[in-house]
Amino acid sequence: MSPRADEAGTGVSPRPGSADPDRRETENARTRAGEAWGTRIGLILAMAGNAVGLGNFLRFPTQAANNGGGSFMITYFAALLLLGIPLMWIEWGLGRNGGRYRKGHLPGLLAAVWRHPAAKYLGVVGLVIPMAVMVYYTYIESWTLAYAFFSATGDYWGRETQDAMVGYLRSFQGVGEERVHGVLTPFLFFTVTLVVNIWVVSKGVAAGIERLARIAMPTLFILAVLLAIAVLLQPPSAGGDTPIRGLQFIYGPDFSRLTDASVWLASAGQIFFTLSVGMGSLAAYASYLSRRDDIALNGLATAATNETAEVVLGGTIAIPAAVTFFGVSGAVAIAQSGSFNLGFATMSVVFQQMAGGQLLGTAWFGLLFFAGITSSVAMLTPILAFLREEFGVRREWAAWGLGGITFVLGLLHIIWLEHGFLDEWDYWAGTFGLVVVALLEVIAFVWIYGPANAWRSIHEGADIRIPRFFKFVITYVTPVYLLIILVWWGATDALPILGLSRAAGGGPVVAATLPYIWAARAALLGMAMVFLVLIHWAWRRNGYDDRAGLPEVPELQGGDRA
Ligand code: TRP
Repeated sequence: MSPRADEAGTGVSPRPGSADPDRRETENARTRAGEAWGTRIGLILAMAGNAVGLGNFLRFPTQAANNGGGSFMITYFAALLLLGIPLMWIEWGLGRNGGRYRKGHLPGLLAAVWRHPAAKYLGVVGLVIPMAVMVYYTYIESWTLAYAFFSATGDYWGRETQDAMVGYLRSFQGVGEERVHGVLTPFLFFTVTLVVNIWVVSKGVAAGIERLARIAMPTLFILAVLLAIAVLLQPPSAGGDTPIRGLQFIYGPDFSRLTDASVWLASAGQIFFTLSVGMGSLAAYASYLSRRDDIALNGLATAATNETAEVVLGGTIAIPAAVTFFGVSGAVAIAQSGSFNLGFATMSVVFQQMAGGQLLGTAWFGLLFFAGITSSVAMLTPILAFLREEFGVRREWAAWGLGGITFVLGLLHIIWLEHGFLDEWDYWAGTFGLVVVALLEVIAFVWIYGPANAWRSIHEGADIRIPRFFKFVITYVTPVYLLIILVWWGATDALPILGLSRAAGGGPVVAATLPYIWAARAALLGMAMVFLVLIHWAWRRNGYDDRAGLPEVPELQGGDRA
C-alpha cells in the first residue's frame, strides 16, 4: 500500500453525503452519488466477490474437462494475459471515469468518453445483459442453496450412482418424470435466494454489498481450502485412480489441441465469465471510487484473487474428485453430459463415499452459494445505478422493484427450463453478449477517448505503474483479439444458433422447443426496447447535451462532508 493510502487509513476516499443519501437524491437525481466503498479491503473483497462465483467452481472444471485439460490451460492463460487483465483495467478505468459524472451504468459511461448521440443507446447492452444474467444466475444459485440443505439433511443419501443423482437433479428442477420433492420446491428456494439478494442490494454499496463480501469471501475461501484438502487426501479408487491423476489431467502441459480453434474460444469465454468482464458490473463498482483511489493495483489484485479461487481451488475440487472415483474418461464424459452434472450429480455421489460426507456436501454447496450471491448482487448494480442516477428512484424502491421483475422472469426460467429457455439467455447474454460489451468498452475507452487518456486515467491515483507492454496490449492486442473472437463465434456459433440449425445448449433444435426459443429471444428484445426508451427519456429529462458532454459532478473535499 502506498504512503498516500496509509495516510487516509484506507485506499478508498470517503464520499460525502453517505449519511442519508437517498433523502437528497429524491430531490435531485443529479446530486452526488453519496455512495462509496467503506475500506480498501472491503472494496477488494467486494470486487473479488463480484468475480469469484459459480463460474470458478462449476463452469471452470467443466470447461477444462471438455476442452482437453492441459491444452485448455495454455489458451486460458493467454486469454487471461491478453484479454482478462487488460479488460479488468479498462472496466475499472471506464467506471471510475464515469463516477466523475455520477454514472455507474454503461449508457452513461460510454457517453462520458464518447460525445456522440449513439453512445448512450449502444450502452443498452450494459443494462439488458446484467439484468438477464442476474435472473438465471440467481435461479442456479438457488439450486446450490437447496443442495446445501439436502446435503445437511442427507436427503439424497442412498442414491449412489451418477444416473440416480442426475435423476434427482432433474426431479428437483421439475424436468422429466420422477418427483422426489413437491413441485413448489424449486420456487421456494428461488424465492428465498432472491429475497436475500434484494435485501443485500437494498442496503447499498457499503452497508450491503461490502458487508456481505466481508463475511462471504473469507468463509468461502476457508470452505474451498478444506474441500480441496479432503479431496486430495482421498485414497486411490479400486481402479487405481487418484486425485493426483486429476491434477495431472488439468495441469499437465498438453499441446495436442492448441490448433483447435474451439479450445481458444472456450478459454476466452471462460476468462470473460469468470472475471465478470464485459458486463459493466465491475465498472459500476468502480464508479464509486474517486480519482485519488488506486485502480491499477486493485484491479490486478481482484484478478489474482479470482484466478487463485479458480485455478488453484476450483481446479483442485471437482475434477480430482471426479477423476478419483470415475477415472479421467469418466470425468470427461460427465462434464460433457451437461453443465451442472459435475458439480451437482457427481459431487453428490462422491460425498456419499467420503468420511464426513454430509458435512463436506453442505460445505461444497454452501461454498457455491456464497460464491454465487456475491456475484448476483453485483449484476443488479448497473441497473440500480441507472434508475437512481437518472430517475432519482430511491435505492430500496429500485431494489425491490427490480426484485419483482427478476421474480417474474425467473418463473419463466423455472417453468421452461427443459425447453431451453435458460440456454438461450445464457448463450446470447452470458456468452456472446459479453464479447460485444467488452468490444464496445475498449473501442470507447481506448480508441475514442484515446490510448494516452486511457493509460493516464488508469494510472491516476495508482499505487503501481503497469508495464508499458500493456499499453500496447490494451491498444491493439485486446481489441483485435476481441474482434477475432466475435467474428469467429459469429460464424461458428451465433449464426447457426440464430438460424436454428443448432440449439444454444448444444445438439439439434427440437421442433417442440421452438416457441420457447422465440419466447426467450422476444423477452430479451423486449427488455432492450424498454431500456432504450428509458435511456432516451433519461437524457431528455435530465437535459444532457450529447455534444457538450455530460455535466461533471465536482469532487467534494473531505471538509465538505455532510
Ligand atoms: N464472474 C462470475 C462467476 O464466475 C459470473 C459473472 C459474469 C458475473 N459476469 C458477471 C458476476 C458480472 C457479477 C457481475 O460466476
